Amino acid sequence: MTKKKMATTLSVEDKYKLYESSVQCHEADIEFITKEFQRLRGREPHDFREDFGGTAAMACDWVKEGPTKKAWAIDLDPEPIAYGKKYHFTRLNKEEQTRMQYIQGNVLDKFDFKSDITVAFNFSYFCFKKRQQLLEYFKKAYAGLKDDGVFFIDLFGGTECFQPMVEKTKHEGHTYFWDCDSYNPLTGEVLYYIHFKKDGVKHKQVFTYDWRMWHPVELREILEEAGFKDTVIYWEGDDEDGTGDGNFHPSEDEENCESWVTYICALK
Ligand SMILES: C[S@@+](CC[C@H](N)C(=O)[O-])C[C@H]1O[C@@H](n2cnc3c(N)ncnc32)[C@H](O)[C@@H]1O
Repeated sequence: MTKKKMATTLSVEDKYKLYESSVQCHEADIEFITKEFQRLRGREPHDFREDFGGTAAMACDWVKEGPTKKAWAIDLDPEPIAYGKKYHFTRLNKEEQTRMQYIQGNVLDKFDFKSDITVAFNFSYFCFKKRQQLLEYFKKAYAGLKDDGVFFIDLFGGTECFQPMVEKTKHEGHTYFWDCDSYNPLTGEVLYYIHFKKDGVKHKQVFTYDWRMWHPVELREILEEAGFKDTVIYWEGDDEDGTGDGNFHPSEDEENCESWVTYICALK
């Protein structure tokens, strides 16, 4: 008789380990924002602020880029911060640790440092559902930048992102599920879940995202209203098989597709 495995709760450590290995690619993000900052500002970026930083894996990677690099990572939730301190901060040597700071706080708060680059990645700002709230956040991001600072956000879209469906991706040792549970066409609100399967056990709704889907045009307008002088939107190039090749170029006119992820950069 085959014994059916019961779902168990993932440990906090597994939860973030599986999340990070499924959705994050900091090397590519750091390479992209550094190259774009240099192209747009003609100098090297040093001071980096990761909003909604979670475990702050990206901020830790930033300070490893060189002795002039400093980072701050801001998140409300002590749980990912504790994980990050245990698994990412400890990857840094003593000197690197002096250049990296975890902040348990609200991205809407005022901080006493200014950055060259601020990022809000993995669509985290979609939690602001009202235009007024998003405008307030973008104003705070603007205020936290140096005079020639640059703010990067990522966003996603395409025909599939409005359809209740589950996208399944196999990784080494686990399976990742991105579940679009609902989309309200009248409010733009979406409910997404992340589930994982590991060792034959499905762990459901490990992460929940109750968001508003923002359109690129709205985002650019709100960024400009918040004070940014200009915005640049990018599009990913295609591989021979039609999937994204990981190279993003500034663009203003593209064909829609089932699913896309891209960046907007806002210049102070
Ligand atoms: C989708 S996770 C993103 C984590 C990480 N940036 C990444 O790329 O994977 C969103 C994070 O935003 C945090 N968060 C939500 N609202 C926040 C706020 N107002 N200020 C600071 N952090 C916030 C949550 O605690 C959560 O860790």
